[in-house]
Amino acid sequence: MKAQPDELGRHMRSLRISVTDRCDLRCAYCMPSKVYQWLPKRAILSFEEILRLVDAFVAQGVQRVRLTGGEPLLRRGLVDLVQALASRPGVKDLALTTNGTQLARWARPLRDAGLARVTVSLDSLRPSRHAALTRRAVLEDVIAGIRAARDVGFEQLKLNTVVLRDVNEDEIADIVDFAGRMNAQARFIEYMDVGGATGWSTEHVVTRSEILQQLEANCGPLISGEERGVAPAELFTMTDGQCVGVIASTTQPFCRDCDRSRLTADGRWYLCLYDGNGTDLRKMLRDGADTTKLSTCIGEEWRKRQNRGAEERLKVSDRSALYQIEELRRDLRLEMHTRGG
Ligand code: GTP
Ligand code: 5AD
Ligand code: SF4
Repeated sequence: MKAQPDELGRHMRSLRISVTDRCDLRCAYCMPSKVYQWLPKRAILSFEEILRLVDAFVAQGVQRVRLTGGEPLLRRGLVDLVQALASRPGVKDLALTTNGTQLARWARPLRDAGLARVTVSLDSLRPSRHAALTRRAVLEDVIAGIRAARDVGFEQLKLNTVVLRDVNEDEIADIVDFAGRMNAQARFIEYMDVGGATGWSTEHVVTRSEILQQLEANCGPLISGEERGVAPAELFTMTDGQCVGVIASTTQPFCRDCDRSRLTADGRWYLCLYDGNGTDLRKMLRDGADTTKLSTCIGEEWRKRQNRGAEERLKVSDRSALYQIEELRRDLRLEMHTRGG
């Protein structure tokens, strides 16, 4: 049967696969706790299981796959998974979101294996500030990773900066300048009240309009780029031709166009970043479901989808962090680092 859109007319096109919930950094907006419990090893999908699920998703219209974590480069053998995914004709676009600490080592093998695009998180260019934010002294490694990604020729290299009030909002122009030198697109992201963002408050959010004001004040006039389409980032071009992106997930969410869903490393499938429950695809897999059965189930679930989590959050008056630490401890999959950012 032909793949159907969801209740709001949105087709499923993009799948974000978290290949591990583990991370070597502890970014304050994502993993503020001191101790973490990880998903049990035996629960983690094997590459073979991931590939079977990808085939089922492709049969339901998925064309774009993004590998995420935690930190995806911590998953042993990731290059083999990339190679297998890249050789599937149904996967038209294969991307990776990484914190960059290990990228210098892996950029070349990943590129050779057929990875098309890379996005690296970069929240500060100042070593002490970067270390305070991520709680690890790794800025040099991250920068080496970004350089390596540029040097091996990844197209559309992107840098993600979550802009936090009184933390890194004064670095917007520096990051644009650095991105220009790296042949990369800087993307400034509004701080979201998701998963591990237990310290979230509206006062900490630097809004899209503030980001744009700063960009115009420091980098000159901006011209709106092409239509955003289904991508979260709105694009702007500066007078010298450099392009920057702004992701207004908090103040101007983009749920009405959302074509994505996410798979956790242990095979739970979520229809929205804010989705509470998810579907246990690992159980179906391990109970012996074949690709057709998996695909039918995925199609049926998608057809019922009404989620627009970020837009719903916008309606909440007196908004504060979505979850407190006790709730996150009860359900590890509520965490952003388990959901794949
Ligand atoms: P491409 O458009 O393929 O380049 O990737 P992307 O921008 O979707 O991927 P990336 O992992 O770089 O995500 C960037 C930011 O967009 C994240 O940090 C989130 O803040 C936001 N974002 C990503 N996915 C979602 C989503 O499903 N919902 C919402 N509301 N925000 C999202
Ligand atoms: N708000 C906005 N972006 C976030 N990310 C993680 N947590 C948050 C949050 N609370 C981003 C990371 C990374 C992407 C995958 O998700 O910075 O770039
Ligand atoms: Fe899509 Fe949910 Fe994110 Fe909205 S909040 S863009 S519906 S994943």
